[in-house]
Order: sequence, then structure tokens, then C-alpha cells
Amino acid sequence: MKASHICLWVTLASSGLVSAFDPITTTVVVGFGAALGRAIFKYFKETCDPKWIAYNATGLKTDLDSKLFGQHIASRIILKAVNGFMSNTNPKKPLVLSLHGWTGTGKNFVSQLIAESVYAEGMHSRFVHVFTSTLHFPHAEHIATYKSQLQQWVRGNVNNCERSLFIFDEMDKMHPGVIDSIKQYLEYYDNLDGVSYRKSIFIFLSNAGGDDITKTALEFWKAGKGREEITLKDLEKTLSLSVFNDQNGGFFQTSLIDKNLVDFFVPFLPLEYEHVVQCAMAEMEARNLRPNCNMADKVARDMIYFPKPERVFSSTGCKTVQHKLNFYR
Ligand SMILES: *[C@@H]1O[C@H](CO)[C@@H](O)[C@H](O)[C@H]1NC(C)=O
Repeated sequence: MKASHICLWVTLASSGLVSAFDPITTTVVVGFGAALGRAIFKYFKETCDPKWIAYNATGLKTDLDSKLFGQHIASRIILKAVNGFMSNTNPKKPLVLSLHGWTGTGKNFVSQLIAESVYAEGMHSRFVHVFTSTLHFPHAEHIATYKSQLQQWVRGNVNNCERSLFIFDEMDKMHPGVIDSIKQYLEYYDNLDGVSYRKSIFIFLSNAGGDDITKTALEFWKAGKGREEITLKDLEKTLSLSVFNDQNGGFFQTSLIDKNLVDFFVPFLPLEYEHVVQCAMAEMEARNLRPNCNMADKVARDMIYFPKPERVFSSTGCKTVQHKLNFYR
């Protein structure tokens, strides 16, 4: 099986590392250096300039290649989109990405990788802003207030730093009117009231389209075709249809789409057993645990797979891997 192959490789690689270096001294020296660096860094307040905001294209590519599993299409689009945008010194509009797919497939994670590649402080940067629909905009009767607050908030933040990153989570649960209030910021304007939004990044996350992406992935699986053979073209049509027709709203009933304000629609494929194994192995590595294939296998087997007869895709992707690892330790 493919997963055991990965596991074998990881085990060999890590044992190679252990014998190549003296593990204790290396860790101490590297750890101390990094801590000292962070301490000096933290002493200064984060500012909106290249000292704190410098895009690392190699870093993003490395992260996408080594930490994001099972998303060959998303990975490629994201890299191309962010590279193109960040290397343009005079973009005509902000970068607007819309990420689609089921929970646990990596949408939040990719947003985090983008933040880390642009800001020294990553998600902790004061120029990175996350909005979660159910948390920040829960009540339908307060829409008018949310709209003006969001508008002012975005404007104020971009005025403060033109290289701002906004992440809107759970777009499918957001009232369509709310996002309409910032639509003008996503357009091709030189500036609005003296504020230019053209160097900011807006990322929308949504489950909308997840069903259709899964359907296509399942068709490929049933036909015995490799997952990597799925192309953006195979998904584009169903994705745009389901996104347009999503009755539950979100920004898809707004005019964001017909005005072409979204630069890239990025599909996330449902994850399979082998990807859950990879996630578990990566999580162990991140926690400095010795990679353990048996444990990764246990975690992956513990997931619920769908659709019913075939049981190919993990219903929560990699989302519960962290909790399950705590449980099995
Ligand atoms: C960019 O990322 C690469 C790969 O992760 C890393 O080795 C390098 O140090 C980073 N460069 C900067 C300037 O942070």
C-alpha cells in the first residue's frame, strides 16, 4: 500500500538524520539561536515595511510541497497566484482568492502558509485579519451594523498598511449583504478616499462546491484513474455552477462573481486514507515526536470514510488528526 511506502520512507529519513548529527547539541544550539533571534526581533514593534513584510517565494513553494497533502491543483494555483501578485510592484487590484472544498482539506492551512510566506510574524502579524462568519457576523438582524463596521475596519487596516491580508472563513454561512459592503475595495480602483487596496490580499474560504469536487474525484477513482490526473478543467465547470447556484448564500449571491472580482477559484480535493497518514506523520514531526507509522495508521483508520459503499474519502479530512494523536499517545 502507498501509505506504508511513505511511512517507510519517513522512518528511514529520520533515522538517517539522527545518525548524521549529534541530536542533543544540534537541538540546543539551533534552539538557543532561534530563541535569541526571536527575542531580539520581538523587542521591536512590527512595522509595515520590508523588515517585517517580505515575500519568500521559495518558502511558500517548500511549504506547499512538503506540508500540504493531496492538493496538487490548489498547490499549483496558489503558488502561481501569490508569486505573480507579490512580484508585481504595481498591481491593478488586490489579490482575491476563493478557496473551496470540504472541511479538513487544507483551506485554513494554506491561508496560514500564505501569511507565513509574506509576514515575518505569520498569522500573528497585526496586518493579518481573520473573520469567521458565525463568530463575527452571527445575527441576521444586525447586518446593517456589520456592513458598516466591516467597511470601516477594512478601510482602517489598509490605510494603516497597504500590505494587509484579510481571511474570511465560513463564507457559505455569511449573509450575502455583508460582503457586498467591501466589494468596491476589491475592484480596479487607483484609490478610494485616498486609500489604495491594490496591494492587499483577500482570501475567502468556503465549503461551497465541496460536494461537486467530491463527485468528480469519485468518478476518477471509480474509473481507476489517478487522483493526480484530475485537472482544474475537470472541476471548473461544476465548481462555478455550484458556486453560483448555492442557495445558502455567502458571497455567491452577490455581484463579486459577475464582476470578476475573484482572481482565482481554488478547489480542494477530498482527502484519502494515505493523506491522513501523511498528516499524522507531519503532526508528529511538528511536535518533535518520533514518527510512528503504527500510530499514523491507527489515526487514519479511526476516521470515517465516505461515500457509503466505497469509503474513499475522509469525512473530516485531516481536521481531527491532532486530537486523535493526543488520544493514542
Ligand atoms: C525562505 O524560505 C526558505 C525555505 O523555507 C528558507 O530556507 C529561507 O531562509 C527563507 N528566506 C528568508 C529570507 O526568510
